[in-house]
Amino acid sequence: MKKILGLCMFISVTTFGQTNKNEIAIIPEPVKIVTNSGHFILPKNIIIQSPANPELKQVNAFLKNRLSTATAIPVTIKNNATASTINLVLNKKNDNVIGKEGYHLSVTPKNIVITANEPAGLFYGAQTLVQLFPKEIESTAVVKNKNIKWQAPCVEITDYPRFGWRGLMFDVARHFFTKEDVEKYIDQMVRYKFNLLHLHLTDDQGWRIEIKGLPRLTEVGAWNVKKVGYFGTFASPAPDAPRNYGGFYTQDDIREIVQYAKERFVNILPEIDVPGHSLAAVVSYPELSCTPGSENYHVHSGERRDTSDNTLCPANEKVYEFLDKVLTQVAQLFPFEYIHMGGDECSKNYWAKSDAIHALMQRENLKTYEEVQSYFEKRLEKIVESKGKKFMGWDEILEGGLAPDAIVMSWRGMAGGIQAAKMGHEVVMSPTTFAYLDYMQGDPAIEPHVYATLRLSKAYQFEPVPDSVDPKNILGGQANLWTEQVYNMRHAEYMTWPRAFAISEDLWSPKESKNWDNFANRVEKHFARFDEAQIKYAPSMYDPIINASASPDKKLMVELSTEINGLDIYYSFDNSFPDNFYPKYTEPIIVPEDAVQMKLITYRNGKPIGRMMTVPVTELKAKAGVKNK
Ligand code: ACM
Repeated sequence: MKKILGLCMFISVTTFGQTNKNEIAIIPEPVKIVTNSGHFILPKNIIIQSPANPELKQVNAFLKNRLSTATAIPVTIKNNATASTINLVLNKKNDNVIGKEGYHLSVTPKNIVITANEPAGLFYGAQTLVQLFPKEIESTAVVKNKNIKWQAPCVEITDYPRFGWRGLMFDVARHFFTKEDVEKYIDQMVRYKFNLLHLHLTDDQGWRIEIKGLPRLTEVGAWNVKKVGYFGTFASPAPDAPRNYGGFYTQDDIREIVQYAKERFVNILPEIDVPGHSLAAVVSYPELSCTPGSENYHVHSGERRDTSDNTLCPANEKVYEFLDKVLTQVAQLFPFEYIHMGGDECSKNYWAKSDAIHALMQRENLKTYEEVQSYFEKRLEKIVESKGKKFMGWDEILEGGLAPDAIVMSWRGMAGGIQAAKMGHEVVMSPTTFAYLDYMQGDPAIEPHVYATLRLSKAYQFEPVPDSVDPKNILGGQANLWTEQVYNMRHAEYMTWPRAFAISEDLWSPKESKNWDNFANRVEKHFARFDEAQIKYAPSMYDPIINASASPDKKLMVELSTEINGLDIYYSFDNSFPDNFYPKYTEPIIVPEDAVQMKLITYRNGKPIGRMMTVPVTELKAKAGVKNK
């Protein structure tokens, strides 16, 4: 078999040369691709042979939709076809190499065969197959251009994931995203073989899941005052301002989302974030806090000053009764075996003022407020486990002592994950350093402002298994989209892509096969596909990276670079718009004494490719740590 494949490769390169390797741009990079000569051309009628298996419903629907929408070619799904265009095969005998989610994809001039052990593998094989066709296959309408050849290069692909946990987190609490938005997010993530959607369902800005018997959570807790601008800086809303911004998922909505995800081989991880980040619950049921006067609190609307106590009171038995009620329903609604209980960023200053907390500390011999939180988490773990689920939390749950069976999601870097893994706990890595999708993707001069930056190239360096830990404790990783500054779905897409391309490759592809330049080329091809599919993405990798410092003779100096190769940077200090007739950056520049702004733009092969950027000199001075006069 090896010999035959070797011959095919030889032929493709030397004799026919029809198959151009550059034509193949799959993300995440498959484990093994052998390119052969020739193409498979879609026939006038496409027949998909698919085993009669209800779990393949969306595999069939996905292929039918993607292969017929742009091409207008009719697609028929059969389960007893004698001849087929695409043959989906479920192995009778397990193939250990590809495991539960892997697949083999064979494209020859005659037909296409996808083989897998399980339906999920066929789904991922189908995703890869679609990426082999021209970008126009992604179009949401019939493509009129008759010159497009609906063909895929001949290949033999063997592929399977590195990690079983390949997640994205979507914060639907800071801003509410509808059921349809969530389903759209699922459609987008599965293109890149993510298999887990973590829904951050509760926070200070909203409680998003209906809980029977606790109606105020969604009557009151799901609504705040609509504000736009820079979240966290808003003026306090007037007392009578309408609280009609937000929303929640009914239990039927949740069931629908869960089913939608399941059909696409995605697990939904629900997060109920306690004991901090709980203002929406406290506003709904003030008796859950330790703070007198909490009945006057309001759900947070992004205002600058909010000193409301947003914590549940670990010294209050009603809190555990409340959580038991919530978790009974959450456990029934979400079939996934884990429930995420938050635990991050819990302010302890409210507890410090509480007599009930001090009495609890005395009774339970707790020395610090971290130990108070640990007491709370351990009780919570028991509740979660009593519902038949595994208890998971952010890495703060390590402080004061980790609950015995807790799974840790490490976000403040990797340290918490390393600590937990060394203690023998399961860990999911989602460090801010590599995986925070709410951070800016480039320079603040061009990106919607957030307090930190995470470039695509950095996201591509994410390695979930640190040298010092046993890989078996690392379930995988995920990237998190917090939405304080994300007001709509288009911007959620912009923030997610292309960084989630990088994360998908970090989590799926063999570590050894990763290569930034090669990846960046493929990203560009996927941008073109997203243009067809009408999915938004950030083009930030085309914009310059700006560093400012003081020169040896104390002048303000700017150094420029680019994230990808082959770009030229042109700039001005005279307030006019630079183009390729302006000075081209070749070496560090001294900013002219009276300049007020620098403008920059990148070109490739004589054509603008980056966005026009304007950076005030005051900003450059701030970057350089030089005092503004
Ligand atoms: C977090 O970012 N607060 C988990």
